[in-house]
Formats: sequence, C-alpha cells, structure tokens
Amino acid sequence: MTTVSQSRARRRDRRVYLRSHPLLFGLLAATRGRPVRRLGRTLLVHGPQAYREALTRLPLDRTAAGTTGAAARSALGDGGAGGVLFDQEGAGHRADRRGLAGSLGGAGVEDLRSLWRPLLVRRLAPLERGGEVDLVDLARELSGSVVCALLGSGADPRAVAEAAARAAAASVRSHLPGPRRPRAEAAAARAADGLRLLLGPAGEALPAMVAVAAVNTTVAALPRAVAWCADAGLWEQAADEALRPVLADELLRVTAASPLLPRVAAADGAVGGCPVRGGDRLLLVARHAAGAHRRDPDARRPAGPAVDRLVFGAGPHACPGARLARAQLADVLGALAPYRPVVTRARVDRGAALPGWRVLTVRAGDRAARASEDGLFGSRA
Ligand code: HEM
Repeated sequence: MTTVSQSRARRRDRRVYLRSHPLLFGLLAATRGRPVRRLGRTLLVHGPQAYREALTRLPLDRTAAGTTGAAARSALGDGGAGGVLFDQEGAGHRADRRGLAGSLGGAGVEDLRSLWRPLLVRRLAPLERGGEVDLVDLARELSGSVVCALLGSGADPRAVAEAAARAAAASVRSHLPGPRRPRAEAAAARAADGLRLLLGPAGEALPAMVAVAAVNTTVAALPRAVAWCADAGLWEQAADEALRPVLADELLRVTAASPLLPRVAAADGAVGGCPVRGGDRLLLVARHAAGAHRRDPDARRPAGPAVDRLVFGAGPHACPGARLARAQLADVLGALAPYRPVVTRARVDRGAALPGWRVLTVRAGDRAARASEDGLFGSRA
C-alpha cells in the first residue's frame, strides 16, 4: 500500500530523472506497459524476464557504438591486450573478474568496512550538534576512499571522486545520439587521462574503470536512498539490525542507480518472446525490471533477491561491486538512523552521468534532536 510519505519520497526522487532526462523518462514511462516494445531497430526492454534473458542468453556485441562497453573503451582505452570488463568476453573477462573477486568478496568488504565506519562517525558528527550534512559530499569522500584502498592508490579520495565523476560525465556527453562530437570526445579523453594520472601507478585502464563504476554509482545511489528513507519515514526499519540490510536492498531497488543499460545484439535471438536481429539496439530498463516504478520499498515486505538484484545486472557481467554497495548503504543507514534525519535541501545534478543529486543535505529530525540534547543517544558512536 502506498502511504502519503512513500508518495512524497517517490515525488522527490522522480525529480532526478525529470530534471536531467525528461524526454527519455517520459518515453520509458509511456512504453512500460509491455515487457518489450520495438521502435524500429531499438527494443525497449522493461519486463524482468525479458531483461534477464537479454543479459544472460542473448549474444551481445560488447564493443558496438552506443553501448556501455564502447563508451568505457573509448574513454579509457582497451587496457593494452585486455579490456575494461564492460567490453570484454570469454576467458580474458573471467580472468579480470577473478582479479577483483578477492577485494570485493565477503572478506574484502569486511576490510573496507573498517575504513568507512570511522569516516561515517566523523562525517555525521555535525548532526549531533544540530548541524547539517551533505550526503553527496559524504558519498564522494566515502567512494573515493574505498576506491583508493581497493586500488592501492595514495591519491586524495575527494580528488579521485571528482575526477571519476568528470570522466563519466564527459564520456556520456561524447556518446549522445546524433552526429559525432570531436570536441566532446577530446574532452572525454582529457577527463579520463586526468583520472588515470591522479591514480598514479594504479591508473591503468582497468583500475580506472573500477574507479568510474564505483564512484558514480555510489554518489548517485547513497543520497537518493537516504532521501527516500527520510521522506518515507523508514528510520524505524533502518534502526533495526535485522531489517536494515533488507531495507538497503529495497532502497537500492527503487532508486536503481544505473537505470538504463544500453546494449546491442550480436546475433539473432529473442527476448520476452520478441524476435531480435543481430545489430538491434536494446535499452534494458533496470528500473522497471526491478519494479522500482510500482512497488514501494518496505523491509517487512521486500521484493526479494531475484528482483532486487536486477539493478546490478545479471549473468557473467553482473556488478562485482554489488556486495560492497549493499554493505555500504546498510552501514550509512545504521549510522544515520539514531538521528532520524530529515532532508533540508536537495538540488539535482543535471550534468552527472547517472541521475542523482548535486546537493542533498539532512539534519537530525526533531525527536532525535530533542533526545540528543537529553543525552539519550550518548552511546551512538
Ligand atoms: C548502487 C551501486 C551500484 C549499482 C546500481 C551498480 C550497477 C551495475 C550494473 C547494472 C552493471 C552492469 C551489469 C551487467 O551488464 O549485467 C555494473 C557493472 C559493473 N560494476 Fe557496478 N553498480 C554499483 C556499484 C559498484 C561498485 C561499488 C563497484 C566497484 C567497487 C562496481 C563495479 C562495477 C564493474 C567493474 C562493472 C563491470 C562488470 C563487468 O562488465 O564484468 N559497481 N554495475
């Protein structure tokens, strides 16, 4: 059941799409009634089953123009003989994924937790004194720190996060549909070089790709998820240790930080019963496949992993950072919950690669502020 507060949360969150890509958002909303809709040589894929089939059964051309793989490769290079994951296939892809599995697996994420937990305590301290915290700025520092630790880079975390955001935004601008844009392409190459230079010896194409993927999704996802939690009044669930990880999954599902996956079919096949020809363009709408548009987040009635994990893709290329992203959001929610924060200011980032906020400030809610003055949260840190 949609409550007034869930509607308020949904209304605010919708602004990140309407301010940055109103036409695309309108087109996708208008066509989502069917699992798959063909418009010329483009298929709009909305249904969960069709989305999964496209990512797991249909051969995809990972380097075709207009796909994530091509954009990643043209921005960062092909990493010498290998590639940058999104554009790879087969044994080379599997080997590079194995290289990441250690640092992004269960033990690796536990190690990273010990890095971000003190950072959260420090960055959220102003709430204690009635001050405000910008969750976008916090997410930048958090993701930059995680990336530097993952890649063994001694660079400044905020500078890395800013460079990764610039590289992704410039890459998106240089790949907009229509005629080639040589100046935008040159700007994208410069932005990618800036990131690689900053990362130092860790700045090969593949690690730089990991930095871009980690920073841009985290900076988009965390503030949107916190704003939804605050607007929908879900802090009780966030305060409950058992419900918190489920709530994190639910909030990642409804905010679908990477909402649209552009892909191209490499061969004939079918998705959701609809025939596909080699060379057809597929717009895979992760947001709709995960039911973000129709089912409110609720840790007591969750959609479940088969649905919520769709925001991380599916099959051999499914996001290797999913465990990290889920743990990170759960910890952010846990650290914020005692303050019952409310959103005080929100401004959309119209130039970012992914729909998100440029500024999203919160302060402790009235009840939490009063309790804090009375010392009721003294044991929080
Ligand atoms: C809310 C956070 C995140 C979301 C929603 C997200 C979503 C996605 C999606 C949809 C894909 C494409 C999957 C496919 O094609 O099937 C992907 C791939 C990828 N993600 Fe994430 N991601 C997130 C966080 C992260 C983080 C924190 C990292 C790194 C630490 C990361 C690293 C990657 C990499 C390297 C790939 C390419 C994998 C491949 O092609 O084999 N992501 N992600």
